[in-house]
Amino acid sequence: MNDTEHISQKIQLGETFSYNIMIIGFMGTGKSTIAKCLSEILSMEEVEMDQHIAEKEGMSINQIFEESGEEYFRNCESNTLIEFNSKKGLIISCGGGVVLREENISHMKNQGKIILLSATPETIYERVKDNTERPILRNNMNIEFIANLLEQRIDRYIEAADIIINTDNKTIEEITDEILRKLSNMI
Ligand code: S3P
Repeated sequence: MNDTEHISQKIQLGETFSYNIMIIGFMGTGKSTIAKCLSEILSMEEVEMDQHIAEKEGMSINQIFEESGEEYFRNCESNTLIEFNSKKGLIISCGGGVVLREENISHMKNQGKIILLSATPETIYERVKDNTERPILRNNMNIEFIANLLEQRIDRYIEAADIIINTDNKTIEEITDEILRKLSNMI
């Protein structure tokens, strides 16, 4: 058994299934990728919040923003988190703006462990620059806008986080290993 298998077994034998693991962070910090990877390693069900909302509303996130506005989308996020309150054993990849509402942070803290992925504005820009599925960045696709928004949100992210992992110049494997180690230390 290698190190990661050992850690994941320890987590599973511990208490993973008695709570949810939420991955938070700015757009482009790798939340969905890491959530998928963790869900495979830990055999836990993965939920992508944006995808969950889009399926429920029957439209893309861009369409929701265009037709109903950001406030409506933020209500969908809060309602989704309330829905997850009664579930256990999920790995939830959260939308980047989920920390904007204090009530959302409370719901997440009640549900389990919160992992914050961080990255510099430059890294984020490189990862998101060709994507057109993020309404917040649609007409603001530049490093300065990203840096300003990150600055506005950073305290919220840190307030919510149990574990903080920087993702700059790291592979998916390095990031997941780091998360598993930190999670196992919390058991
Ligand atoms: C948003 C982040 C997006 C999505 C929506 C708003 C934000 O999710 O929820 O476009 O305000 O940061 P990702 O962080 O998964 O891109």
